[in-house]
Amino acid sequence: MPATRPGVRGAVITGWGTALPDTVLTNADLEKQMDTSDAWIRERTGIHQRHVGGSTASLSTASGRAALEMSGVDPADMDALVLATTTPDRAVPATASTVQHELGLACGAFDVNAACSGWVYALVNAHGLIAMGADKVLVIGTDTLDRITDYTDRNTGILFGNGSGAVVLEAVDGPGQLLSWDLDSVGEAESALFCEIGGVLQMEGREVFRRAVRIMVDSATKSMRHAGVTADDIALVIPHQANTRIIAAALERLGIEYERSSIVLDTTGNTSSASVPLALAAALDAGRVDAGDLILFVGFGAGMTAASSIIRWSPDAVEARP
Ligand code: UT7
Repeated sequence: MPATRPGVRGAVITGWGTALPDTVLTNADLEKQMDTSDAWIRERTGIHQRHVGGSTASLSTASGRAALEMSGVDPADMDALVLATTTPDRAVPATASTVQHELGLACGAFDVNAACSGWVYALVNAHGLIAMGADKVLVIGTDTLDRITDYTDRNTGILFGNGSGAVVLEAVDGPGQLLSWDLDSVGEAESALFCEIGGVLQMEGREVFRRAVRIMVDSATKSMRHAGVTADDIALVIPHQANTRIIAAALERLGIEYERSSIVLDTTGNTSSASVPLALAAALDAGRVDAGDLILFVGFGAGMTAASSIIRWSPDAVEARP
């Protein structure tokens, strides 16, 4: 699978934004609804609280608007909107269409569902659109998992929450940020984590854990190999935020210290498609990323999907916008 081909039209991230609903569901709240404890949840998952409420369209509109404002791009100039979500507001139309209207965009808009790998899938798709001539693409990842989570079931209810993260991608003359990417799916494992239409999430936690570590390592290794870089070259890992123990185990196998990762799941829980852009925005806002740094995105989720990509952070490339 692919390293970005030489000569392909590249892109850089020129703005980012996030949105979390106001309502917070703490571990203490969950103690009243199921047989669990704050101490167990913190120790076994790293999660202290999660946000609930809002709709996929409203959260996407908020994060997308923030990203647009930071980039300074006129909404009318956007060429495409790609919205990663596992929890669209309706079966039809795609939630991206609602968000397109709310943001005043005049472009194609579509949803991508690759579960918790979704935003990385969307980011790669957006680069493909730019390689084919789009100038500006808005890439959002949003999930409202409270609508498909049973908060009385301790197998799943401790993990999931709502959130949204977005970036604006703009084409540049010359190579962009994306060095390599990898998208995977192991459909035979779909019974480990699924939700029927109208139902709630069902999960074999230990099986997902075991597979998650393996496929994260596998996908990240492929992306590093395609980019021609090693674990030592990676300045920052932005992993899917499911469980700090999964992240720690995967990073250990990759030979990357835990301190080189961005973690937000203590306050957000697992927000599926939103988790990677939320963790990216947190790192950028905290000034943890310098020009030239290599960032490794790596996600995994139901499907079971995995996705990774490596970008070289290059804010200066914005000057080369066509
Ligand atoms: O985006 C992908 C989404 N999903 C995931 O990433 C989930 C991956 N899996 C996990 O994160 C973990 O498997 C869980 C957090 C779901 C569970 O943690 P675990 O360390 O795998 O727990 P376990 O299922 O092996 O259970 C260990 C013990 C059991 O008790 P005994 O048999 O040792 O007495 C469980 O009954 O912990 C008990 N337990 C709980 N206790 C308090 C299981 N869930 C809970 C709970 N609160 N919520």
